[in-house]
Amino acid sequence: MKTILVTGGAGFIGSHLVDRLLATTEARVVVVDNFSDFYAPEIKRANVRAHLENPRYQLIEADIREFERLRSIFSETPFDAIVHLAACTGVRPSLEQAIDYEQTNVTGTLHLLELAREFSIRKFVFGSSSSIYGANPNAPFKEEFLPLPISPYAASKAAGEMFAYTYSHLYQIQTVCLRFFTVYGPRQRPDLAIHKFARLMTAGKPIPLYGDGTTERDYTFVSDIVSGIIAALQYNQTPFEAINLGCSEMVPLKRLVEMLETALGVKANIDRLPMHPGDLERTHADINKAEQLLGYVPTTTIETGISKFVEWFRSRG
Ligand SMILES: NC(=O)c1ccc[n+]([C@@H]2O[C@H](COP(=O)([O-])OP(=O)(O)OC[C@H]3O[C@@H](n4cnc5c(N)ncnc54)[C@H](O)[C@@H]3O)[C@@H](O)[C@H]2O)c1
Repeated sequence: MKTILVTGGAGFIGSHLVDRLLATTEARVVVVDNFSDFYAPEIKRANVRAHLENPRYQLIEADIREFERLRSIFSETPFDAIVHLAACTGVRPSLEQAIDYEQTNVTGTLHLLELAREFSIRKFVFGSSSSIYGANPNAPFKEEFLPLPISPYAASKAAGEMFAYTYSHLYQIQTVCLRFFTVYGPRQRPDLAIHKFARLMTAGKPIPLYGDGTTERDYTFVSDIVSGIIAALQYNQTPFEAINLGCSEMVPLKRLVEMLETALGVKANIDRLPMHPGDLERTHADINKAEQLLGYVPTTTIETGISKFVEWFRSRG
């Protein structure tokens, strides 16, 4: 039986990945997560509650910045693969907390790569981000574009990819860096637009809208992202790849708000704010490489995804 380490497995994407790994594979899943207070840790406790019942699941509360602690975890369990999702997430706060972002997202990633080398783990999947394309004026974003990160968060993800490339090259660790494009769905992080807007709109509060509403995002439903991660775990054709996981459909912010108004049956009260300096004008994934190498084909449209999100949002009472 294979043992897969999922860092950040108590978070939004990580907990969905664990759901799928436990339901559809025979793998043993070990999660390392420090239940950071970037958003309420109780939300993450709820994310893992059902997993704790499963005998193939183990939760270890640990911080990826603490190398010796990680080392003792690796010496106790022989992992076959690492899916590294633990991170300081969120673009905007990274401008005020650049050093924290570097320590978790760069040094923490390097700790895991070092341990992959030391314990001869041959498979590494890294949760990277569309934000690394940053100031690139060309769209859709193709993997060969030069990263031009415009926030410390984006820079930390680009640096993580660079270290992953180096370790893949030096130590034959087969690595896939997956560049996720704005992920949403049930259990979405409360700081992200869809969840934040739904919460404020239903409370009758104004929603902060940065820019004039024409910024566009390629929203990707979480179950499509999970399918891409599972395919990356199985991929073994080349030593290193960076691959976009998006939906390849751009949705203007104005349209997103209208869709939420319809799905929630509430009119949004908009608080217009200037564009944030770390935000991108648009994200748009070219997903040809993901389709060719991973057989990745996103199946959830924004309309279906928003209604699934709202169903979950309402079910929490
Ligand atoms: N959600 C998105 O739209 C999106 C887009 C692009 C990339 N990503 C990346 O995907 C990954 C998962 O994102 P998410 O949206 O599920 O975020 P999340 O914040 O819900 O999950 C991240 C998890 O990492 C844990 N963590 C943070 N710092 C840690 C540390 N020092 N040690 C151990 N655990 C730590 C947190 O407690 C959390 O459970 C992240 O790497 C993120 O950068 C997410």
